[in-house]
Amino acid sequence: MKTLANAIQKGGQGKTFATCHLAFDGAARGLRVVVIDLDSQGNASYTLEPYDSGLNASQLFSDDENLVSSIFDGRDNSGISLIRKDFALANIEKMNGDVAAAALRMHISNLRKYFDICLIDTPPSISNLMASALFASDYVMSPVEAETYSIQGMQAMVAVIQNIRLRGNPNLKFIGMLPNRVNYRDERQLQNLAGMRAAFQDLVMPFDCRQRGSFAEAQGDQKPVWQIKKTAARVAAKEVRVMTQYVFEKMEIV
Ligand SMILES: Nc1ncnc2c1ncn2[C@@H]1O[C@H](COP(=O)(O)OP(=O)(O)OP(=O)(O)O)[C@@H](O)[C@H]1O
Ligand SMILES: [Mg+2]
Repeated sequence: MKTLANAIQKGGQGKTFATCHLAFDGAARGLRVVVIDLDSQGNASYTLEPYDSGLNASQLFSDDENLVSSIFDGRDNSGISLIRKDFALANIEKMNGDVAAAALRMHISNLRKYFDICLIDTPPSISNLMASALFASDYVMSPVEAETYSIQGMQAMVAVIQNIRLRGNPNLKFIGMLPNRVNYRDERQLQNLAGMRAAFQDLVMPFDCRQRGSFAEAQGDQKPVWQIKKTAARVAAKEVRVMTQYVFEKMEIV
């Protein structure tokens, strides 16, 4: 099993959008996908609600070594399994950071027996939850808008990733920044995007996802954009599949 976190400590960049579409596409490819929603906003838990496993995300911070097997043993784990957000996630911020990270890492290690990919959606803040996700992941990616505050957020995120590598997860690989919600009619955004590519070079994915209503519609309708029956959605589907293909190749699972 390979584990990928979608993380950037700035809100509204597309972490949940990317997480959900990677989950839908992974399942369509026949992979067994587990999604952990560590964001108390619960947006991924809403979009992926039909795939609820019955396990709450806060339980992944307990020291119960039999937790994962008690849920997934003897089950058909094909398709998507959601480990949903719950209100007790708020308590994780009161835990010792190292204890929280070790617990999540143990439970994710136990998930290896049942799944091919683990996707973690994280909250938009540097927190125990985000740090634990990064300590437990093999890969991280960061969706980012072509806006000044977002690019500043990305600079901070690169430092966070470096810090996580130094503090205990030296093999954490950064798949890159996904320029998202790009408005091609806005010259300023295009300039920001060009500036981002010049500054971060190959840390930026070599494509982008544009601002498209179909993406937001798909998340609200609890389905992938390729299931939306509109002409505009077809273009959006092609675009998002460039992203999923790229990420799965980087993760060496396709
Ligand atoms: N490429 C896009 N085009 C249009 N809308 C988008 C696109 N990507 C995301 N959105 C919409 O923008 C909003 C923010 O996206 P999303 O929830 O994925 O971001 P996030 O980084 O997870 O936010 P948060 O930090 O609050 O969890 C959502 O309403 C989503 O549907
Ligand atoms: Mg989100």
